[in-house]
Amino acid sequence: MKKFKRYTVTSALPYANGPVHIGHLAGVYIPSDIYTRYLRIKGQDVISVCGSDEHGVPITLKAKKEGITPQQVVDRYHKIIKDSFKEFGIEFDIYSRTSNKIHHETAAEMFRTINEKGGFIEKTTKQYYDTEAKQFLADRYITGTCPHCNYEAAYGDQCEKCGTSLSATELIRPKSAISGAKPSLRETRHWYLPLDKSQAFLEKWILEDHKDWRPLVTGQCKSWFQTGLQPRAVSRDLDWGVPVPAKNAEGKVLYVWFDAPIGYISATKEYTPDWEKYWKNEDTKLVHFIGKDNIVFHCIIFPAMLKSAGDYILPENVPANAFLNLEGNKISTSKNWAVWLHEYLRDFEGQQDALRYALTAAAPESKDNDFTWRDLQAKNNNELTAVFGNFVNRAAVLTQKYYNNKVPQPNAFNQEDEAVFEKLVAIKAKIENNIENYHFRAALKEMMQAARIGNKYLADSEPWKLVKIDPERVKTILYVALQITATLAVLCEPFLPFTAVKLKKILSTNFLNWENAGTKNILPTGHTIGKAELLFAKVEDAQIEAQMKKLSQAKKNNQMENKSIAAQKATISFEDFSKADIRTGTILEATKVPKTKKLLKLLVDTGLDTRTVVSGIAEYYKPEEVLGKKVSILINLAPRKLKGIESQGMILMAEDAEGKLIFITPQGDAKNGTEVN
Ligand code: 2FM
Ligand code: ZN
Repeated sequence: MKKFKRYTVTSALPYANGPVHIGHLAGVYIPSDIYTRYLRIKGQDVISVCGSDEHGVPITLKAKKEGITPQQVVDRYHKIIKDSFKEFGIEFDIYSRTSNKIHHETAAEMFRTINEKGGFIEKTTKQYYDTEAKQFLADRYITGTCPHCNYEAAYGDQCEKCGTSLSATELIRPKSAISGAKPSLRETRHWYLPLDKSQAFLEKWILEDHKDWRPLVTGQCKSWFQTGLQPRAVSRDLDWGVPVPAKNAEGKVLYVWFDAPIGYISATKEYTPDWEKYWKNEDTKLVHFIGKDNIVFHCIIFPAMLKSAGDYILPENVPANAFLNLEGNKISTSKNWAVWLHEYLRDFEGQQDALRYALTAAAPESKDNDFTWRDLQAKNNNELTAVFGNFVNRAAVLTQKYYNNKVPQPNAFNQEDEAVFEKLVAIKAKIENNIENYHFRAALKEMMQAARIGNKYLADSEPWKLVKIDPERVKTILYVALQITATLAVLCEPFLPFTAVKLKKILSTNFLNWENAGTKNILPTGHTIGKAELLFAKVEDAQIEAQMKKLSQAKKNNQMENKSIAAQKATISFEDFSKADIRTGTILEATKVPKTKKLLKLLVDTGLDTRTVVSGIAEYYKPEEVLGKKVSILINLAPRKLKGIESQGMILMAEDAEGKLIFITPQGDAKNGTEVN
């Protein structure tokens, strides 16, 4: 296998039109962070680049909806995303953004280079145009029915229901997302990347030269090749994006998927003047971390662009992940079915590693996978706390107690001790192999195995019992246990960086490194360790319940939104309407109707009399909450018996967004008995 001198690691640029959620973390940012942290610890020359993807129609649509500028939208989310990555310990060397000047210049230069080499074709085609809004309807500016699955809200570039890429002219009953009007077709001229000409090269490069790529990735590429690659437009008629640097290109910008991956290069340029060695040197290994929806762009389109521009290296691997579901359902931004990183950081202060651990363990490396809150709790409490934390704590506390915090002088190692060291060496090798081959779940398991070995070693050798009988043996046991803790401090760093920092503080070390991890004297005799402190905090039931409540609220809201508004009833005459005698009234007394969940017995002052009404509101109101409430009451409804009580009218209620019944309360100070017409 080729030895590389340096690494360029990219992570998909998140769209700056919303915050980052756990699907993004598990799919892209945690794996890329594990990979780069590992390479850094090993002393490799590596840069990790990322930034906000700030162009594209979803951003302009959001700006329109909110009545602000696209720049204001991206400024808002760029900050939220950047800050939350930092707080979560995703250690990019640079987190840039595509609305930067340097990016505009770099993207424009790439376009010019390809254009000058004759790498584009120019074509005039008919595209949808909104005559009211006076603009072409690129990508998501147009919606319609998907020709594949009949979903009515498919976009001009993709159907989100069945995942098919579409071109706007395929949509059935297209309509403008700006005005809702039926669009007309109008001629427009654009630049196209003739992917068909790159097919032979790409097929060989992916299917023959990179047989080690994930099946998920090669599978998608194969399917594109089978359909046959087509020329792909790289410009749009829009006013938000990188202006096309060519003649007769007024009102045209680069397609967001043309400029976004160039963002990796411009971020590198921003990071170092020596950027070319990370992009144009064959000794550099380029790795793109992405989600599966980005495969075509990183394995086919971007490599075709880089090849046409010339000089650039191509990715050695594109370890794309499948999708993470949440509690059995697809993560959805619009349905708020998500765990947002900035909210997690607020609700689980100091517990970053709990989420990093749970998401790495559940990473959708070969197929879609599920995240549940109960799983996070179990993983944190039963594995991190009960095994890893418990072991480290015992080792540190006993060293404090028996040896005044000094690493003791061991005696001869016995078979068990030797077996522990052998296992650590094997684990370290497996972690290396797994990380280098992008098997982060398996690598994490190995790391945890080292903690299990430590925990079992102490539990089996029971130094706290042995100390009175064989204090010399206890010295060796604690010496071995401390070597395991120090090795763990190194091995856990790529996965649990906050824990690694804490553990190094407990061990009072700044000399641990990947090389000495797993050795028999990583922590030398006589070294004074620091104060024992707990490595992990428990995730409490109340924390989980609060999150589950949030999700059930989101579900309820969605159900309400989906609930179709009842159709209008048959027309009635004014005469019919005026038969209904509705008055304002006040609730004087309220009691629960025994043996029912829903009913309250109310005594209502109607202005004409006080009467009993049985109302189905007990699920939403306690009797004391409705006392004195002003209501609208239908008083000439034929009386009827409910649970043996005669109800002499009906209190008018509506349903709120959460399905709760709410009173139709007269505003102002209408006297009881006032007619409602
Ligand atoms: O899918 C996405 O979120 C895109 N914003 C990813 C872009 S990756 C790269 F090409 F910039
Ligand atoms: Zn569809």
